[in-house]
Amino acid sequence: MLLKIAKTTALAALTLCTLNAAEYNAQAEKDRLALIDYFEAKFENPEKNRATFFPYSTDEELKENIISGLKFEDFSIGNYAFSKNGKVSYEEINEFPPYEEFLENGEKLYNTKFANGNSLATCFPDPVEAGAKYPYFDEKRKEVISLTVAINECRTSNGEKAWNTSKGEMAHVQAYFASSAKEEEKTVDVKIESAEAAAAYERGKEYYYTQRGYLKLNCAECHVQGAALRVRNESLSQLLGQTTHFPVYRLKWGAASAKNDGLGTLERRMGGCVKDQGQVPPKAESQEMRELLFFMAYMSNGLKIDGPDIRK
Ligand code: HEC
Repeated sequence: MLLKIAKTTALAALTLCTLNAAEYNAQAEKDRLALIDYFEAKFENPEKNRATFFPYSTDEELKENIISGLKFEDFSIGNYAFSKNGKVSYEEINEFPPYEEFLENGEKLYNTKFANGNSLATCFPDPVEAGAKYPYFDEKRKEVISLTVAINECRTSNGEKAWNTSKGEMAHVQAYFASSAKEEEKTVDVKIESAEAAAAYERGKEYYYTQRGYLKLNCAECHVQGAALRVRNESLSQLLGQTTHFPVYRLKWGAASAKNDGLGTLERRMGGCVKDQGQVPPKAESQEMRELLFFMAYMSNGLKIDGPDIRK
């Protein structure tokens, strides 16, 4: 009898545990589904729903440039998902992708031995997994680990110098990882399995929704409510699918100097966006940046990984 009671209690405790584990992502999942609903509604029929979603767009813009009827999977290519004009030049450039040589160099760097005989391949035995796993919440360290952080930790723990976090070798290796994951048709799959992970997610979300800079804008005003509006000659991309295709080759980053070969990491792009608002961006490897990435990546859960890619 006693044994039976003990067994039942143990079972009840176990059920409780699994229930809780599933619940840690409850808020994040609610946010993600609401975001998908919002964007599917927004692009279902822009001309008809202009009062709700596009009060500032001209008739011509809605008719000539905005694609309607978009569904969840379409959003992974950023602003090319909805911009007719953008999509044409995007497809043209992608016929001869300008990042091929960086991919090859990334693979070479991956296999290049450090002075101690190890290599990146020692730390990341499976490039497909490396391209699909980050950012994730490390339950032992109680912090978000981004791919950039993991690569530099691999180097420094093997006695090598950390790499520049925005471009060059770092971006090349990330391109190799991303394309390996893309080839295997991996999707974004960020997990929140503890109270600490949920708290990290909430802090990232708070950063995203906090007004800053001289315009007192938050990220969402441009990339959620503002998505598809024009800022100068660019259409604002949507939060859903904003992190799936990095690193990116940007025309703007290409010609600047010999040190800039055009390819840049997600942290570099985000830093640029914060700078444009007159603010000092958080450092690429800071807790703030990692948690912001964690929130943004969670929002893209279920979408295909399709880096590296090209952007204006
Ligand atoms: C004033 C409007 C504005 C605000 C506020 C803003 N951005 Fe942007 N952002 C842009 C523009 C314009 C672009 C270039 C076009 C595009 O891809 O959206 C861009 C691009 C991006 C991209 C690259 C998307 C891609 O597919 O290449 C990311 C990532 C990004 N922003 C993140 C952020 C984050 C994070 C914040 C808040 C810290 C933020 N942005 C705030 C205007 C803004």
